[in-house]
Amino acid sequence: MIEISNLHKTYRTGENEVPALRGVDLNIEEGEFLAVAGPSGSGKTTLLNILGCIDMADSGEVLYDDVSVMRLDRDRQADFRRDYLGFVFQSFNLIPVLTAFENVAFSLNLMGVDEDEVQERTMTILREVGLEGMENRRPSRLSGGQQQRVAVARALVKNPKIVLADEPTANLDSGTGEDILKLMKAMNGKMGSTFVFSTHDPMVMDYAGRLIHLHDGRIVKAEPGETPNAGETPNAGETPNAGETPKRGEAPNAGETPKPGERAEGPSAARRRAGGSSV
Ligand SMILES: Nc1ncnc2c1ncn2[C@@H]1O[C@H](COP(=O)(O)OP(=O)(O)O)[C@@H](O)[C@H]1O
Ligand SMILES: [Mg+2]
Repeated sequence: MIEISNLHKTYRTGENEVPALRGVDLNIEEGEFLAVAGPSGSGKTTLLNILGCIDMADSGEVLYDDVSVMRLDRDRQADFRRDYLGFVFQSFNLIPVLTAFENVAFSLNLMGVDEDEVQERTMTILREVGLEGMENRRPSRLSGGQQQRVAVARALVKNPKIVLADEPTANLDSGTGEDILKLMKAMNGKMGSTFVFSTHDPMVMDYAGRLIHLHDGRIVKAEPGETPNAGETPNAGETPNAGETPKRGEAPNAGETPKPGERAEGPSAARRRAGGSSV
């Protein structure tokens, strides 16, 4: 569960001050498929970057399972990104000299996963995103939609708690974009990872389990209804935990203990070190 409270961020360039977030409050439940909608300049990227520990807020709080990620030191933030988060970007951001397989395997290698397991997990996820047989292609030999499938596989192969996707369909034609949304939604149901994605495309919004609208750095509307209270089940049938058992036994219960070797150092470990309860 992610608790965001009173987030403020202003960009300062020379004499200019550009307020990007002006008091954002939002709770995100485990397993949600949440869209952040809003016109260009409304603060979507800023919000996702702060959630992803890529950028710092000026004030406010972001708690991942009660751990304040903004207060972790840089090394711990890097560990947190590596072990807990998957990213999908508008422009795919694959490494051009690496094959599809290597792009996906890369993050597992960084985590120190042994070679047999890297092989198995990478091939499995590439199959699941529909890229069987294309493992050895470099990005230049893949279509935009296929490249974004590689990026989704790369984000998911780590089995992250949260996938952050900033306008993942903006560089794709609408049919291909819709395919990517369907894929992300299917993987959200199957793996139970929480997805937070931004968009200004109404087609994409249709797939959201919940939709919040940003305008000038503030949440102006949340659908359906208001931000759900903790413990409430949003939208039965739209969230992976609604009566459905995720395949890999990875349903991310609040306070779940990370698997040894998979999430060696994240909020739980940080909490243990801080002397808090490890639930
Ligand atoms: N690095 C930056 N320096 C200065 N202003 C920025 C920077 N990044 C974003 N902004 C400004 O902050 C506001 C929010 O931007 P952004 O979060 O990128 O919105 P969105 O992703 O919804 O288009 C905009 O007014 C934008 O011009
Ligand atoms: Mg943006």
